[in-house]
Amino acid sequence: MHHIIYMSQATRAMTDDELATLLAQARHANEERGVTGLLVYGAQQFLQVMEGDEQVLGPLYEHIAKDSRHTGLIKMADKAVNQRSFADWSMAFQAVPAEQFASLAGYVSPENLRLQVPGLSGADALLLEMARQFVLPSTHDKSTKPS
Ligand SMILES: Cc1cc2nc3c(=O)[nH]c(=O)nc-3n(C[C@H](O)[C@H](O)[C@H](O)COP(=O)(O)O)c2cc1C
Repeated sequence: MHHIIYMSQATRAMTDDELATLLAQARHANEERGVTGLLVYGAQQFLQVMEGDEQVLGPLYEHIAKDSRHTGLIKMADKAVNQRSFADWSMAFQAVPAEQFASLAGYVSPENLRLQVPGLSGADALLLEMARQFVLPSTHDKSTKPS
């Protein structure tokens, strides 16, 4: 199993409809190729994790890089991983506010990836951070709401 993590700049602000079109395209194609992953959009930037066979991901990345909807791709990771972090998702998606995007991007920065515990991939670190930011706050909200 292999993964590629990159960030890019949307060439212009994406509407909800445009994001839905992009996701439908990506999910359909990924399902056929055995690719899973995560796409985060915020502050007019993308952060994507792609998981699959190395021979599939290399050409897919090159293909996506030519897409005029974004530019300035920066690859954060391109390596073998023990397992998928997004096994159930042909492409999970989350739109986030600018501040949250910056914080998530920090988790796949080269400095942070170097500091990681062995065995924890960039995607896992990102997943953990997303769980912390999205899942835990809502769990907390529920538990503190009067019933
Ligand atoms: C940020 C971003 C992420 C994308 N992710 C994927 C993806 O995971 N899988 C995929 O097949 N296409 C993805 N695409 C779409 C491809 O760039 C391309 O539009 C699609 O594969 C259709 O290509 P085609 O028109 O040459 O058939 C993504 C595009 C953007 C802008």
